[in-house]
Amino acid sequence: MPRTKSSQRWLDRHVKDPYVKRARKEGSRSRAAYKLEEIDQRDRLLRAGMTVVDLGAAPGSWSQYVKNRVGPSGRVLAMDILPMEPIVGVEFIQGDFTETAVLDLLRKQLAAQSVDLVISDLAPNITGVPSVDQARCMTVAELALDFAHEVLKPDGALLIKIFQGAGFQEFHRRMQSCFAKLVTRKPQASRTESSEIYLLGKGFKA
Ligand SMILES: C[S@@+](CC[C@H](N)C(=O)[O-])C[C@H]1O[C@@H](n2cnc3c(N)ncnc32)[C@H](O)[C@@H]1O
Repeated sequence: MPRTKSSQRWLDRHVKDPYVKRARKEGSRSRAAYKLEEIDQRDRLLRAGMTVVDLGAAPGSWSQYVKNRVGPSGRVLAMDILPMEPIVGVEFIQGDFTETAVLDLLRKQLAAQSVDLVISDLAPNITGVPSVDQARCMTVAELALDFAHEVLKPDGALLIKIFQGAGFQEFHRRMQSCFAKLVTRKPQASRTESSEIYLLGKGFKA
């Protein structure tokens, strides 16, 4: 099938992207790893021994990064609707995060172990209808916050990708009420034209 102009533009930009080149060189599964790395370095997110849940984990660059940082004494539980190539030391559940049965699987896998950090890079498929896409993004963000509320240790943290648009202000206010400290991050690896930003809540008020 011939490439459209926009898919050709995307491909050209992708090939030249310094983060794509770096990911290839360093064996990272995606350029997304460098968003997490920047936030981790700035906000001291990860430590050895932590228990971390990675929502929307495929292809797995955040899980790879987190596993390296938490070390053998840490625990990483990842989930995605898509399959993910195994990563040594990372537990993985495949399923749709919006389904109760999948949330139950996550709870079961955690076996009541409370969590230091939930990270969510969840990004539903784009339909091209902005109001529908924004509503879907807000739905998974709300679910991720509900889940974090349920599993986080007192003083735990949530890092969550969110798209600026309808519902953002309410979500921001909800995050503020759940965490002692809330910051907004737009890492350099996050494309300027993307409306994605990351909210980091620290000091979970259980
Ligand atoms: C930007 S990618 C995550 C990249 C990942 N952080 C990494 O470093 O490799 C977003 C992911 O969210 C997943 N996703 C979107 N909606 C989902 C849902 N309802 N349930 C589970 N995963 C979902 C997608 O399948 C996709 O893999």
